[in-house]
Amino acid sequence: MTTNKETKNNSLDDLNRQEALIRRCTLDDLDAVIKVNEKELPEDYPYFFYKSILDNYPEPFLIAQNNVGMIIGYIMWRVEKTPSLDTLRYLTKAHLVSIAVTQEYRKRGVAKALLSNSMLAIKKYKIQEYVLEVRVSNISAIKLYEQFKFKVINIKKKYYRDGENAYYMTLNSK
Ligand SMILES: CC(C)(COP(=O)(O)OP(=O)(O)OC[C@H]1O[C@@H](n2cnc3c(N)ncnc32)[C@H](O)[C@@H]1OP(=O)(O)O)[C@@H](O)C(=O)NCCC(=O)NCCS
Repeated sequence: MTTNKETKNNSLDDLNRQEALIRRCTLDDLDAVIKVNEKELPEDYPYFFYKSILDNYPEPFLIAQNNVGMIIGYIMWRVEKTPSLDTLRYLTKAHLVSIAVTQEYRKRGVAKALLSNSMLAIKKYKIQEYVLEVRVSNISAIKLYEQFKFKVINIKKKYYRDGENAYYMTLNSK
């Protein structure tokens, strides 16, 4: 099993022991990524949405593969410029679009590896802040983000189509 510079961190050591790999997503992977999304998350997106994220922000769009090449997880981000509340400048934000790991591969550090590697990769866009929304009921995802020092700064009421609220979590990029 190969590894590369992008993938060196603690959780990857665990992953490599289990013969899994984190790498950049390619166009050929998109159908499998969409399948993981449809299986693991209620929020679905059309193909062109994934394609536009891949075209525009390929570096932090990562997938996790098992030892037979099956895609078992993915993460994708977009970059946004928004006016800062306390200065006249624009802030460049990395916005987490989606992350999921298939049930069978959970609790093995796959999401941690996806998140840490993609957060490094997206720094090339000179981002000042990482931001994300998460369902208030999604304890495993909230705990994951808290491990990375994300903090809840706001609740977005009825953010999801089914009416559930979202926590808006942010983290300054150092
Ligand atoms: C959230 C999700 C991506 C985590 O994936 P994972 O590969 O199992 O996560 P990891 O094994 O890397 O765990 C990292 C940390 O997340 C937290 N975590 C993960 N699963 C958890 C669970 N079932 N209960 C509590 N905390 C959990 C823990 O803090 C864990 O760290 P630890 O192992 O040191 O305790 C996965 O559960 C998933 O795909 N869920 C469905 C999709 C989803 O909800 N995506 C997030 C949308 S905002």
